[in-house]
Amino acid sequence: MRTVTLIPGDGIGPEVAEATRRVVDATGVGIEWEVHEAGLPAIERYAAPLPPHVLTSIRTNKVALKGPVTTPVGTGFRSINVALRQELDLYASVRPCVLYPGVPSRYESIDLVVVRENTEDLYEGIEFEEGSREVEKLRGYVKYMHGFEIAKDAGVSVKPISISATEAIVRFAFEFALRRRRRRVTLGHKANIMKFSDGVWLENGIKMADTYRSVGFEEMQVDELAMWLAHAPEELDVIVLPNLYGDIISDLCAGLIGGLGLAPGMNLGKEYAVFEPTHGSAPDIAGQGRANPIAMILSAVLMLRHLDRPAEANSIEQGVARVLAEGRVRPADLSPEGRSSSTTEIAEAIIETL
Ligand code: NAI
Repeated sequence: MRTVTLIPGDGIGPEVAEATRRVVDATGVGIEWEVHEAGLPAIERYAAPLPPHVLTSIRTNKVALKGPVTTPVGTGFRSINVALRQELDLYASVRPCVLYPGVPSRYESIDLVVVRENTEDLYEGIEFEEGSREVEKLRGYVKYMHGFEIAKDAGVSVKPISISATEAIVRFAFEFALRRRRRRVTLGHKANIMKFSDGVWLENGIKMADTYRSVGFEEMQVDELAMWLAHAPEELDVIVLPNLYGDIISDLCAGLIGGLGLAPGMNLGKEYAVFEPTHGSAPDIAGQGRANPIAMILSAVLMLRHLDRPAEANSIEQGVARVLAEGRVRPADLSPEGRSSSTTEIAEAIIETL
């Protein structure tokens, strides 16, 4: 029996986590779930959104399945998602985007994967608040060293991109492409404008790509990439991006395949893996039984593959595909005006196919 840390999260998290757990258990795979609170319930109980025992559990089990958690605004708590990625060095975020038959979409076939660098870039949290003494000092320094004038009323965020993190994530993208028999890696950047951050990304990405001659490679400015994704997403395969572009483009890709309710994800490091849907805690529909659990169920499919349980993973994925194709149940986010199925009904329909 394999033990996995289960973090239901908050908002719609507990609803989609329960549906997912039922589906996984119904395969008979025999996962033992170690359930821990994080996010709003953990703040109430432990005065911390990510109590240390949750991290200890993931470190012990190596694998976690996580629901979404709210990042409270203006409370001083930092995002637990960012904290988890940094604490466990989950440097690669992987978000597969597959268009299943039966899902309303403008496109016919999409099967792409966004690989996002998870640790640095503008998300590293190096920020200077508008009006602060620190930003004043920074303005003086930048003027003195470089002659640039930062506006007096500006706030500043710093964008570090390192050779080592670039090499690690681009290597990861190629290894992933090789293992999954993918044909091409597209590296997105804006190196023409940010010469010293995206410049490092592009230059070292190309060097790394040179060592993987059996997989196709192209580099593309991220604005052009956005245009291609809207125009002909079937042309794209594996896309590797720095943190911020990866965040935006992976939500765009979720939109291409029917929305956030269908978009799974995983965060991987050398030692630990945390599987979670792309979507957030959706406070607007929390507690109503209307959340689509498929994004989290497909995240569990990725987890089962990681745990080397391909039979159970395939069985659940085929069940999801069948339920969507037959239209027997309709998640609320896929049929805003028609009759829709509850979170539980969707899970039960998938379980029936197993
Ligand atoms: P969100 O993803 O929670 O919601 C955006 C829209 O999509 C809402 O209209 C929501 O109802 C809908 N939606 C999302 N998931 C759905 C599902 N499974 N089924 C049906 N509809 C679904 O994004 P939002 O509103 O920007 O963020 C809410 C909170 O979640 C914030 O505190 C944010 O920081 C947090 N968040 C957490 C993430 C995580 O834990 N990995 C990821 C993204 C956001």
